[in-house]
Amino acid sequence: MGTPWISIKEMIGHLGEEVVIKGWMYNKRSSGKIHFLQIRDGSGFVQAVMVKNEVSEEAFDEAKKLWMETSLEVTGTVRADDRSASGVELSVSSIKVVHNPTDEYPIGKKDHGVDFLLDNRHLWLRSQRQRAIMTVRERIIWSWREFFHNKDFMLVDSPIITGAIGEGASGLFELDYFDQKAYLAQTGQLYAEAAAAAYGKVYCFGPTFRAEKSKTRRHLTEFWMLEPEVAFYDHKDNMDLQEELVRYTVEQVLEHCPKELALLERDLDPLKSVTEGPFYHINYRDAVVKLNELGSSIAFGDDLGAEDETVLTQQYDRPIFVECYPKGAKAFYMKENPDDVETVLCADLLAPEGYGEIIGGSQREDDLGKLVSRMEADGLDMDSYQWYLDLRRYGTFVHSGFGIGLERTVAWICGLHHIREVIPWPRTIYRLNP
Ligand code: 4AD
Ligand code: MG
Repeated sequence: MGTPWISIKEMIGHLGEEVVIKGWMYNKRSSGKIHFLQIRDGSGFVQAVMVKNEVSEEAFDEAKKLWMETSLEVTGTVRADDRSASGVELSVSSIKVVHNPTDEYPIGKKDHGVDFLLDNRHLWLRSQRQRAIMTVRERIIWSWREFFHNKDFMLVDSPIITGAIGEGASGLFELDYFDQKAYLAQTGQLYAEAAAAAYGKVYCFGPTFRAEKSKTRRHLTEFWMLEPEVAFYDHKDNMDLQEELVRYTVEQVLEHCPKELALLERDLDPLKSVTEGPFYHINYRDAVVKLNELGSSIAFGDDLGAEDETVLTQQYDRPIFVECYPKGAKAFYMKENPDDVETVLCADLLAPEGYGEIIGGSQREDDLGKLVSRMEADGLDMDSYQWYLDLRRYGTFVHSGFGIGLERTVAWICGLHHIREVIPWPRTIYRLNP
């Protein structure tokens, strides 16, 4: 048996042992007598220390020539090191070079512009910062699946190619589907509603698409959305579920990703405060008044603009539900509010610190007649929705659901300004590669 190959993450359990690490050189510092090699292997980063009089002269000279992103296998002894984030370092006995690049690695120490980094997204992902973001993203996905699994929700994924427009005619990606017109799904919701009639508590989770022409820090053309739908939940039950989910998500990230949040220099106080008290609720009509006082020109009927959300959420230290938007500002499937018929039983959940909407949700219109007239008024192709109307024909039921945007949630929890950094391969109006 040769020396065992372990991951950097596992090193802490192998103190004093000789091991092999397989990975890439991330960085190098040298004094005349010692090379400090920063090695990464995907699971983490560690410093490998090569001392001149502990290895052959040839091996020491060879290590001088190593470039950034050389792929290599390093053999050495694991030592405890309190100063390093991983708690360990590697005392090197030998290095086997797998591939030493001949060209200089494009991403250097100098500050690169974001377009350059996005053009090199396939390489940028290797950085410590990007690894931290992807780790938080993975943890959030995991916590969402766990949350719903523990509550007995059934995962029922929805199609990506669809004939029924989910949200609205603007922002649709259309494709030729043999001899028909098809769309990339803007939402899985309509299918989740059908699944809720079949299985009660359900969710879908997948990529969704919006032909967003606007270039903002909150919009992607392809983003991931988790959409729960629950039979016999009303508007209030729906908001309670959202609050529990968001609080759980923040708790899970605080518990499992402290190193990542530290590396991202995330201020933890606002996140802790999310876990400590109830979320706020404000009626849309009151939000308009408040926003006008804060200098916005929003009027009844308008959706909240990005700037409105920023200004409003800066007033609060925990997420805020803005409830009961005007009908015209929202999609066709939302239930009319019996107490204020110009509005619907919906809520957007806005994240604090200026982040804005992370969830859109509503009670659904369960009255066949009202739903049909609203859809006809919106000019929808009714033939594509007969299956959806069947849900109101065969045992209609009070039901509610919501969609939580993964990238907006990750950006908020990580404290990042722009959402393009939180998805491995961002798609925006001008970006299709890599
Ligand atoms: O508010 P939206 O459009 O709601 C729906 O799609 C509903 N059908 C959901 C449901 O009730 N099942 O989108 C929901 C969330 C937003 O709050 C936001 O987090 C995210 O999806 N989102 C986007 N994220 C990134 N880029 C975009 N272009 C987004 N559009 C929406
Ligand atoms: Mg919305």
